[in-house]
Amino acid sequence: MDVIVLEDADEVGAVVADLVVELLAEKPAATLGLATGSSPLPTYQRLIHLHRQGKVSFVQATAVMLDEYLGLPEGHPQSYRTFIIEEFIGSIDLQVERLHSPDPTATDLEREGQRYEEVIVGAGGVDLQLLGIGRDGHIGFNEPTSSLASRTRVKTLTRQTVEDNARFFDSVDDVPTHVLTQGLGTILDSRHAVLIATGASKASALAAAVEGPVSAMCPASILQMHPKATVVADMAAGAGLRLLDYYADTQRGKAALER
Ligand code: GLP
Repeated sequence: MDVIVLEDADEVGAVVADLVVELLAEKPAATLGLATGSSPLPTYQRLIHLHRQGKVSFVQATAVMLDEYLGLPEGHPQSYRTFIIEEFIGSIDLQVERLHSPDPTATDLEREGQRYEEVIVGAGGVDLQLLGIGRDGHIGFNEPTSSLASRTRVKTLTRQTVEDNARFFDSVDDVPTHVLTQGLGTILDSRHAVLIATGASKASALAAAVEGPVSAMCPASILQMHPKATVVADMAAGAGLRLLDYYADTQRGKAALER
């Protein structure tokens, strides 16, 4: 893993946005894997800004989402599809027909998981997968004990994740308890995985993911097995890392990003 620790969330957003811009310059029809949550928002805001300046176009690109809540009424503002359109896709030139997400209204959810895997393969696989990390080390919605080889399927959220996500809803009782999520095996198939971690609340999960053992108890630790994984964190999220000085070395970070 390449681990890069920067000063703050804005710097993280700028660096990650550059990775996306470079990918699209090389491969305009790339497939982007999009994450929701607050961690990637500075990246999306920066990409929108660069798009408005004419520095990046998504017109030939495809996007696939990581996960979706089950049981929300259609068009609910917190459905991940609505969220990503509001926060990102609606402000760039990516064609909305080329934004793919798991369908929470499918009657056969097991079949929907398989269909979604086929959609990802049909899109040529994911070139760059953006990821946030939950306080319990989840990526997508792969909660602790998720199979390290899992594919898209239904998961039940832990109480901690429900409570963490309650800030986006009127009350904790409104937060869905079930989701459809890409599996850890699905995420491992991406060509480049980029994990964003910002804020002190992520420090212990990030330390376990980067420097702990590979374990289903910290699903993000599976990225240690990814052929090309980049972790971009801010100082607050990086505070628990043993090799913090090394990761925060700007010369080394630059070289890692240029590889
Ligand atoms: C949710 C999402 C994850 C995200 C996590 C962290 O559970 N399914 O993809 O990484 O929240 O969210 P935040 O970035 O808001 O802390």
